Amino acid sequence: MSPHQTTPRAQTLATGSAPGKIILFGEHAVVYGRPAIAVPLTQLRAYATIMPAATCLVDAVDIRQRIEVATAAENNPFAMIVRLVCRELGQELPAWRIVVHSHIPIASGLGSGAAITAAIARGLLQAFGQTLPLSRLSQLVYEVEKVHHGTPSGIDNTVVVYEQPVWFVRGQAPEIFTVGHALPLAVADTGIASVTRAVVGAVRQAWQQDRPRFEALFDGMATCSRQARQAIERGDLAALGRLMNENHALLRQIDVSSPELEGLVKTALSAGALGAKLSGAGRGGNMIALAMPQDLQAVAQALQAQARRVLTVTLQGQG
Ligand code: PMV
Repeated sequence: MSPHQTTPRAQTLATGSAPGKIILFGEHAVVYGRPAIAVPLTQLRAYATIMPAATCLVDAVDIRQRIEVATAAENNPFAMIVRLVCRELGQELPAWRIVVHSHIPIASGLGSGAAITAAIARGLLQAFGQTLPLSRLSQLVYEVEKVHHGTPSGIDNTVVVYEQPVWFVRGQAPEIFTVGHALPLAVADTGIASVTRAVVGAVRQAWQQDRPRFEALFDGMATCSRQARQAIERGDLAALGRLMNENHALLRQIDVSSPELEGLVKTALSAGALGAKLSGAGRGGNMIALAMPQDLQAVAQALQAQARRVLTVTLQGQG
């Protein structure tokens, strides 16, 4: 057989994947113990393909990085998840090449870091012929999230590992809940990198300066999350839109919005969205807008002119 006939597909030992995510309610407040709601973006995924090799390497093709796991820095996130999974399973580092590829834009609040880590873990588990409970897999991904984010709440790893809408309170088991009615969303990227670690750090500093004010604002966000869960479960899009606007106003008060995010929110609302807010750490990254199904395209089109990228996603409901 000529070398050309040996396709990578034929050499594949296993593949793993995990979705991106968006936070619908409660970002930042979740770091301070309040509830948040996040949903997976199942069509936007990260993938890891495992193939035989001479040593254990990770090929992060999108960022053109090749990481030799045995010699990589301790806090290299790619090497870290490989080591964590091997340790968990009592395995030596395998002679495998792990090719990582992601469709999830980075540094935009869509959970690309957690999804890549989870995809690698899933690929490795499959290649070893092992499984782990979702709660354990989520903990391993969280260990790597700490390197990315400093003091992450754990919401990203939870939603990308469970691949379900989650009600998340730090330190508690996540609750999976039902979406009563399809939620049509436009996700518009400012094109400005949102560095979660930096924004979370800035909020912490401001909180230290004026705890009573920030605690009250976080309580307001918690109320939004609670009411939003009920609105999502009963399929009340109008109420949900209003709650998004309220949550966004509170996020603006903790100073994580930006002129670009404000511009996108305004455009979405003028084009007929029921509500709009920043999603994730803020100061860049994405804005999300909720619309009636018949208005979603008009909202997305209006955003197109101002955003780096606009995605439309409809989270499927039961009703
Ligand atoms: O920017 P993202 O999607 O990684 O979200 C960060 C969410 C925060 O609540 C701001 C931080 C956290 O760890 O939950």
